[in-house]
Amino acid sequence: MNAENWEFKHLVVERDEEGIAVLRLNRPEARNALNLELIAELGRAADMLARDGSVRAVIVTGGEEVFAAGGDIKEMADKYAPDMLNAYGADLSGFEKIERIPKPVIAAVSGYALGGGCELALVCDMIVASETAVFGMPEITLGIIPGAGGTQRLPRLIGPHRAKEMIFTGSFFDARTCLEMGLVNRVVPVERLMEEARELALRCIRNGAVALACAKACVNEGMNTDLYTGLAYERKCFSLLFSTEDQKEGMRAFIEKRRPAFRGR
Ligand code: CAA
Repeated sequence: MNAENWEFKHLVVERDEEGIAVLRLNRPEARNALNLELIAELGRAADMLARDGSVRAVIVTGGEEVFAAGGDIKEMADKYAPDMLNAYGADLSGFEKIERIPKPVIAAVSGYALGGGCELALVCDMIVASETAVFGMPEITLGIIPGAGGTQRLPRLIGPHRAKEMIFTGSFFDARTCLEMGLVNRVVPVERLMEEARELALRCIRNGAVALACAKACVNEGMNTDLYTGLAYERKCFSLLFSTEDQKEGMRAFIEKRRPAFRGR
């Protein structure tokens, strides 16, 4: 099999020995605006991170002053509906690929996370924000609406009234307000951002990888279906986990009063 090519034009991906990969948006000249090329790279990186057995959790981050300024306004400005349906309709799946990585994915957000930048944070499983983080959906001020899941994921996360306030006004919200709204998991000083995201990732991945993948799938699938379909899905995953070595090890370790040594199988 060919070795994976981890080189990207607008992203930097670093993997460490503990199994944490950091995916950093790197288009500073455009405030990490998400053009089609960058969105396609996100999709390719997501596929590779999902496949790589040495990667157990992913941190998605940007720059200190800007996480991402949203869709690339200059690239979109002269487009018409068919262009958007064809090009962006297809390529926004880069976001969905991030959402479907079967491992914990944590957004570490410092500075502006606007429009598509905020939507990128929303496809992550958890959001750690720096005190300087600012979230907003300014699309309405451009004569459009969020187009990468904002009108769907945001109300599911913070409720329709708060989501509508963000989307209808296009206002920016500081990190503390976003914490109160339930948009972010925690707010930390900017110099602690990556450390905090890393600690959160480590606390997840000391648990079994198969159970983590099932837990993620159950929550994500369940959020998009009715309660009884979600419960049936959960029951299947719960039962199937009893065919893993990790379940045997986890329960045996509890009974023997020791820490489990999960192997992700
Ligand atoms: N698209 C394209 N270029 C962008 C951009 C964007 N979203 N955001 C910033 N840039 C460019 C600027 O045009 C500027 O380029 P030039 O040097 O060539 O003039 C450069 O990046 C620096 O930008 P600023 O001078 O504005 O930087 P700042 O630090 O003063 O402000 C900011 C930063 C608050 C993020 C501001 O740039 C801003 O408000 N950006 C736009 C935010 C926005 O409206 N996002 C929604 C986009 S639409 C969308 O996201 C649709 C979707 O759902 C997918």
